[in-house]
Amino acid sequence: MTRDIITRRKKMFNNMVDNSVAVFFAAPEVIRSNDTHYPYRQNSDFWYLTAFNEPEAALLLVKESAEQYQTILFNRTKDPLIETWTGYRLGQEAALKTVSVDQAYPFDKIMDLLPEIINGKCALYHASQLYQYADNIIDNLMTTLRQGIRKNLHAPESIIDWRSMLHNMRLFKSSNEIAIMRQAGRITALAHIRAMQQCKPDMYEYQLEAEILHEFIKHGARSPSYNTIVGSGNNGCILHYENNSERLKNGDLVLIDAGCEFQSYAGDITRTFPINGKFNKQQKEIYDIVLRAQLKAIELFRPGVSIKEINDKVIRIMVEGLIALNIMRGNIDELIEQKAYTQFYMHGLGHWLGIDVHDVGDYKTVGRERKLEAGMVITVEPGLYINKDADVAKQYRGIGIRIEDNILITQNGNEVLTSDVPKLTHEIETLMAKSSY
Ligand code: GLY
Ligand code: MN
Ligand code: MN
Repeated sequence: MTRDIITRRKKMFNNMVDNSVAVFFAAPEVIRSNDTHYPYRQNSDFWYLTAFNEPEAALLLVKESAEQYQTILFNRTKDPLIETWTGYRLGQEAALKTVSVDQAYPFDKIMDLLPEIINGKCALYHASQLYQYADNIIDNLMTTLRQGIRKNLHAPESIIDWRSMLHNMRLFKSSNEIAIMRQAGRITALAHIRAMQQCKPDMYEYQLEAEILHEFIKHGARSPSYNTIVGSGNNGCILHYENNSERLKNGDLVLIDAGCEFQSYAGDITRTFPINGKFNKQQKEIYDIVLRAQLKAIELFRPGVSIKEINDKVIRIMVEGLIALNIMRGNIDELIEQKAYTQFYMHGLGHWLGIDVHDVGDYKTVGRERKLEAGMVITVEPGLYINKDADVAKQYRGIGIRIEDNILITQNGNEVLTSDVPKLTHEIETLMAKSSY
């Protein structure tokens, strides 16, 4: 990974103008209640350039010219007393090697040292409105430097947002990142398999969530990459249902959308399965439409196509299927044209996946749909949601189904990173029949 980090910084240096500095701030700790914090999560961009997991830190890329540049870290000082209470701190000396920087200074000196480092530079790269503390530091710095030539101070003429540069880099995964994402996919798959095996009527949704989290943590993925969704019955139609508080009813489906964060990279799988282990006729009919759409999409993902082109095919399969079941009525082209399907399929086909579950990077370039390229990782997650109040035959109401996998775009097509977890109805039924229940 260290080599990746050096390469990433080099790319940033190459993109920066001469005589400039780019600054990246660590995520602050966030209070959960009174004096306790949420588990610390580093800022994804900062992580991408440092793999350093402490708050109160800033990375500086200082470029004089193409040949002359250096990296500086500001981080917390070592403090034996504090470390006894809250754990190890890397400190400055170890940071030189561990974070691969040329210089490291205490974070509480940043206000004093930053003006010296930035004075006389033409451009400062900074992502504003991300953290108030970071903006305060930069505002103070600019106020100091704007005091003028009489004090021998020169503020940079431009402040440039580094986000589009860096986020475009993050879209393309290195072989190390891909190896980690394969593992995130495997662990996430194991968790979904476990949930299928443990599921039985009358359990609570949160008990399935517990099975998912158990499997994540058992494999070293200490956190989910987003809040786990366990929606049974009509709750499966609520896209971001997170209460997970209801009892699982015999005869209903349950939709689980859960992914682990493994070594800072996200998995993101959805499976929908029958609580009692057997799909009924209507559930299977709807399920097979979504499955058909998802399998078609996976077949089509390759370099050179856009997500929209594939989603258009997915929509056609969905509408065709719903017409065949008399859930939608009318001419297929008109229904598509009028977007009548959004009553049942109201979200996009997928999103970039990486250090963030909804990863960074543009979906359009100069107003055009972006074509996929090798090295991108994306989710494919079509769904159909027939709400309990929908104006359709009663036996279809309250069915919410999504099937989601993670795909790496390769030179010749794609690789499914989450194929370990079954999704054909008979495979799911076989797995559930073999379970302890
Ligand atoms: N779980 C969030 C998503 O699938 O996009
Ligand atoms: Mn998901
Ligand atoms: Mn997703």
